[in-house]
Amino acid sequence: MSTPAAATTPAATTPATTTPATNTPTSSTLASFRLDGSRALVTGASRGIGRAVALALAEAGADLVLSARTSEALKSTVEQVAEFGRTVIAVPGDLGEPGRAGQVVDQAAEALGGLDVVVHNAGVLPSQPDGSPILLPLQHLPQPDWESVISVNLNATAALCRHAHPYLAASRSPSLVLMSSVAGVIGTPMMESYAASKAAQISLARSLAAGWARQGIRVNALCPGWTRTDMTAFAHHNGPLSDWLLAHVPLGRWATPEEIAAAALFLASPASAYLTGQTLLVDGGVSVPDGGLAGIPKPPSPFAPA
Ligand SMILES: NC(=O)c1ccc[n+]([C@@H]2O[C@H](COP(=O)([O-])OP(=O)(O)OC[C@H]3O[C@@H](n4cnc5c(N)ncnc54)[C@H](OP(=O)(O)O)[C@@H]3O)[C@@H](O)[C@H]2O)c1
Repeated sequence: MSTPAAATTPAATTPATTTPATNTPTSSTLASFRLDGSRALVTGASRGIGRAVALALAEAGADLVLSARTSEALKSTVEQVAEFGRTVIAVPGDLGEPGRAGQVVDQAAEALGGLDVVVHNAGVLPSQPDGSPILLPLQHLPQPDWESVISVNLNATAALCRHAHPYLAASRSPSLVLMSSVAGVIGTPMMESYAASKAAQISLARSLAAGWARQGIRVNALCPGWTRTDMTAFAHHNGPLSDWLLAHVPLGRWATPEEIAAAALFLASPASAYLTGQTLLVDGGVSVPDGGLAGIPKPPSPFAPA
């Protein structure tokens, strides 16, 4: 079991002292987006959406534990969060290793003296050893590649939620956000393992929301659409593929990680105090079928029918 990495600021060893906000409405709408004194864990925080979420939560006043596979990968996010003057600690861990998700949660809670917010954002596509995605229909996807995606995206999510439960139950303002995907809502051929794991996260969020509501714990699933990150570099670095994908996005462009982070802050904060068990799609409208009536021209598909 690895230990938390060294913090980058003197404040990083000091537990949060500010009184956390509660899951009750406040007099000011804008103030309800604040997280002053909240203790938050963000997984997959080394880059992409997770980094943007970490910065948004820090700007809103949260103290943070950041997780990804290595401390080195987390270094620049840790440094950026520290600029907000918040406590920030790196807890590395490979969520594909059995038992590691629970250890990350326990170490995060120990480092911060509890947990009020968990944004579980780490996730993977089926990938080659060099990191490039495997885009194959299910009938051609080897079972080990299916299992590696389910291991990180679903099994680690369940373990993380299980371990987070006692800390969230002890919090005055608990919120659990699972970073799912629009792929878990619409049909997503060529990525069935990913889509199934993301649909399972939505189901888990709904079940946990119902089961944990009387303990005051809110659980929601956040579903980004096509967002410009390392995960989607295979597409946004490929002009024809990007053009084809965006022809199916009513807003006609890629999302930025910051646009997803703004929704994560909403779900994490008392601004969404009466919202639980929901699936929030931040997808530029890609989940809205128009039956072709919007008249948006569609280039030919780069994917041959299998
Ligand atoms: N980008 C999109 O279009 C999009 C759309 C819908 C949903 N999402 C979801 O949003 C989340 C973030 O996506 P992203 O685009 O920001 O992806 P990304 O740029 O590939 O970043 C993925 C993050 O997850 C971490 N991670 C990957 N495998 C891990 C493992 N085995 N153990 C621990 N951490 C691991 C990575 O850390 P290290 O590699 O440094 O360990 C990194 O911080 C994912 O759950 C993804 O499914 C993304």
